[in-house]
Amino acid sequence: MKKEILISAALLAALFELTRCSDGTAGRSPEKMIDGMVASMTLEQKAEYVIGTGMMMHFPGPGERRNESDSSARRLGWQNTSDSFTDTAYTQMVDRIRTYLPGAAGFTAEFPDLGITSQALSDGPAGVRIEAHATAFPIATLLASSWDTDLVRKVGETMGHELLDFGGDVILAPGMNIQRDPLCGRNFEYYSEDPLVTGKIAAAFVTGVQSSGVGTSVKHFAANNQETSRRESNSIVSARALREIYLKGFEIAVKEAHPWTVMSSYNKINGTTASQNEELLTDVLRGDWGFEGYVMTDWFAGTDVVAQMKAGNDLIMPGRPQLIKQLIEAVNSGSLDESVLDRNIKRILPIMMKTPRYHKFEAAGHDLKASAKITREAAAEGMVLLKNDLNTLPVSPADFAKVAAFGNASYEPIIGGTGSGDVNEAYSISLVKGLREGGFTPDQGLEQTYGNYIKETRASQPLPSNPIIAIMRGMVPLPEMTVSPSLARKMAGASDVAIITIGRNAGEGGDRKAEPGDFYLNQTELEMIRNITGAFHAAGKPAIVILNIAGVIETASWRDIPDAILCAWQPGQEAGYSITDVISGKVTPSGKLAVTFPLVYTDAPTARNFPGTPVKSDAPEEPRQGSAFFPRTPPMEVVYEEDIYVGYRYYQSFKVPVAYEFGYGLSYTQFEYSNLSLGSETFDGELTVSVDVTNAGSVAGKEAVQLYVSAPGKEMEKPVQELAAFKKTRLLEPGETETLTFVITASDIASFDETASSWSVEAGRYALMVGASSEKIMETADFSVAEKMNAGSVSRSLLPQQEINRLSVNR
Ligand code: BGC
Repeated sequence: MKKEILISAALLAALFELTRCSDGTAGRSPEKMIDGMVASMTLEQKAEYVIGTGMMMHFPGPGERRNESDSSARRLGWQNTSDSFTDTAYTQMVDRIRTYLPGAAGFTAEFPDLGITSQALSDGPAGVRIEAHATAFPIATLLASSWDTDLVRKVGETMGHELLDFGGDVILAPGMNIQRDPLCGRNFEYYSEDPLVTGKIAAAFVTGVQSSGVGTSVKHFAANNQETSRRESNSIVSARALREIYLKGFEIAVKEAHPWTVMSSYNKINGTTASQNEELLTDVLRGDWGFEGYVMTDWFAGTDVVAQMKAGNDLIMPGRPQLIKQLIEAVNSGSLDESVLDRNIKRILPIMMKTPRYHKFEAAGHDLKASAKITREAAAEGMVLLKNDLNTLPVSPADFAKVAAFGNASYEPIIGGTGSGDVNEAYSISLVKGLREGGFTPDQGLEQTYGNYIKETRASQPLPSNPIIAIMRGMVPLPEMTVSPSLARKMAGASDVAIITIGRNAGEGGDRKAEPGDFYLNQTELEMIRNITGAFHAAGKPAIVILNIAGVIETASWRDIPDAILCAWQPGQEAGYSITDVISGKVTPSGKLAVTFPLVYTDAPTARNFPGTPVKSDAPEEPRQGSAFFPRTPPMEVVYEEDIYVGYRYYQSFKVPVAYEFGYGLSYTQFEYSNLSLGSETFDGELTVSVDVTNAGSVAGKEAVQLYVSAPGKEMEKPVQELAAFKKTRLLEPGETETLTFVITASDIASFDETASSWSVEAGRYALMVGASSEKIMETADFSVAEKMNAGSVSRSLLPQQEINRLSVNR
């Protein structure tokens, strides 16, 4: 009930104001109220408002949980404050607001006398990251693999209600950087290698969250595609690749879903730090796309607060008192016009007026059971069945009751990645628990053996000496126990099926490595798969591999061994239940890869220049904040040589074979495609396409349908094909058909013309392909564009300062 009141209040903010009579503001429009608030603020208050109020962090000892209300919690960045910062009213205010949502990543200041309330900003993206227990949802990569915008909207809505009920205002999500290279440590927080999938899934998430009456922060804007030297790396990238690949997803999310806020990234783009980049934050974001919310920095980003203010980075997070002083001094010395602060504040206040806190919403705790149900369902929808020889899966408890579960992650699931994208969940469901409750009988002796092994191995692992690294790195998976051929034989005699879980983690602050134990399986893991499969096959029984992973790994060298492979990603706190739902057939898998699995790492187009080349830093020592958290790496220069050829755009155009292509995923049923029909043979700015999808198998299932377009590529270089639209069917019963209809617009097929700084649709014949994956094309048709079309001109921004040696199919 209370939520409905809040939502309608947020929508009718102006009307609502009529009831706020006590401060004499009744009857005034929100704009007038904002003008009044800004006019009443002192310079000090203005500076305090655009600088966040700091970040509390408690550094837990071994086995302890994070607890920001603990008296040992430290306010990061305040230790450098000079003695002259003695504004006790400010300090008291800061102490007060941190109690609003303990464990939130940051807060904006409040000035009750002016009617200005604080905003509690909390991570994201896999759940509400606060001190209290909250729901750990599946990672972003899994959500994108569902190809289901309705589902993602529902997840967003659920997460939004959770934030609302805990007392938060804005969730620092979604993460929507492109998965440029398979090794980026934060890929798990991002959706896809494709900008359309990224944009549409992010827009659905933002719409869902914001329908609950709280805000989002789409991050990290932009071209932030690695963690090595993350605060200082310089992404050198062409205007075309920026517009088509790295900005496109943000553009879709901003235009379609109107996020309340955007978080600028740490890195430089073509030499200018994102949070100090006026072309990015003003010309592109506001000018070209019409963004109307506010921009906040990533935490401790940037080196020049005055430049950030001028560039249109409205709020500095998490904020430090010395930055407040710097802004006041800059205004007093004339190097910053006070009107810039006014402008930025006038972008923050309208969002403040939408927040629950402004509307005096009383947080009353959340029903975590309802969220758990959604999490369980969502996770099952985004798992991808990579292999299923002889229909090994599903396995029913009636026929395969006795399960031998191998691999540490069968007992200790890796439910999400580490760093700020982690969540303080109350519990997690292991695979064996899920199996047991799903009617299977996991072998108890084996469970005991793994239990002892995990306990002993963990006790012998040294803890990182730096506690911050321990928090940010989280749980590093333990090495696997050696499974000898005799243990494998024993288990094959005693069980009906083997399940082998391979676990991988990744997180903020570091990239993964193209090494055994990370991108590649190591010897112990390979032997485990070999010995177990060998023994089970000798006994006439199947072996299944579950990938409990944060991102892409190598599969080609070992995938022939087991009977089935299910990529379960990091499925959130209900992990064991969700995996059991899929392997038992309760849910038919319908996830498809939103990122390519290459044969080997060096096949990736980015492998040659990831994570870049070290360069000398020009930044002064002190503001380079990152050193407090992470080991310092030299600043990197990363040339995006692959240009527009990211992911499948590269593998297909350059004919590089892959292990599992973009859009790939099996089902327990089969789908037939028919009746592809185009609204017209000629494209005049919009084209309607429809296709029938029939469930031709024997169990109910859903199908993610992908529409690719191949352009003439005569005037402009083009990838062989690009995704132009996608949709997922509803649950189709055997024999049932659904007609899917797509509308393709000019911006879905346009390319960015750098010379004209505009989007252009080339004239000529286009092929349209409806695929079950990017390689499995089911139906094709043609359409033509009579004359070259201009699909919109934009600002001439973000140009590289140097010639880039760009990959090209035409060379
Ligand atoms: C991360 C952001 C996060 C912020 C607040 C930063 O280190 O890059 O994604 O939202 O911290 O926790």
